[in-house]
Amino acid sequence: MRYQARLYTRAFEGQTPRLGQRVFIDPSAVVIGDVELGDDSSIWPQTTVRGDMHRIRIGQRCSIQDNSVLHITHAGPFNPDGYPLTIGDDVTVAHSVTLHGCEIGNRVLIGMGSIVMDGAVIEDDVVVGANSLVPPGKRLASGHLYVGSPAKAVRPLNDKEYDYFCYSSANYRKLKDRHIAELERDSPGVDQ
Ligand SMILES: CC(C)(COP(=O)(O)OP(=O)(O)OC[C@H]1O[C@@H](n2cnc3c(N)ncnc32)[C@H](O)[C@@H]1OP(=O)(O)O)[C@@H](O)C(=O)NCCC(=O)NCCS
Repeated sequence: MRYQARLYTRAFEGQTPRLGQRVFIDPSAVVIGDVELGDDSSIWPQTTVRGDMHRIRIGQRCSIQDNSVLHITHAGPFNPDGYPLTIGDDVTVAHSVTLHGCEIGNRVLIGMGSIVMDGAVIEDDVVVGANSLVPPGKRLASGHLYVGSPAKAVRPLNDKEYDYFCYSSANYRKLKDRHIAELERDSPGVDQ
């Protein structure tokens, strides 16, 4: 049966997630509300993408890996405009990452277990090392590796790291196609 990612999304108060072409959402993940996912992006097992009080926008060829949590802050007395969550293209979000109301550019790697808080901005071509914390409102400059809690720039990226961004996004693009094929082969729950 044909795999349909939309089966693993949920509307909230009239907002239904909008999916580009060839998107993969693992059947154990949950994608709710005002969420847009670009072509060839993938959401991996047990991940939550909850766009219930503000928008979440994810670009093309992004992977949001296992156990990650993506949420926003609503507009209200403490935060007049709230904080939406925006992610560019070719972004790798590794396992167990929390992204909350922040802005992430293109070609970024967020290392395993990291937390990025409201209003933080990560410019294009940045690596955030595993287990880092990016505090509210902090801006990470393009072309650098950041590590630690709070995350600090440790050095400029090398050529290999620049190349890795698109290698990683292409690799996950292929991998999600293999998962889709597997689900289409033998999952009776698909497409019902
Ligand atoms: C930071 C990172 C990119 C390594 O960079 P690197 O320059 O090769 O680092 P090195 O291995 O040479 O280590 C340099 C120093 O930073 C430390 N270090 C490495 N990773 C670190 C991290 N995430 N946080 C804090 N310190 C770290 C090392 O212990 C070493 O310390 P020392 O100089 O006191 O010995 C890598 O460790 C990392 O965190 N990558 C992300 C991996 C990931 O999540 N991938 C996604 C998989 S889907």
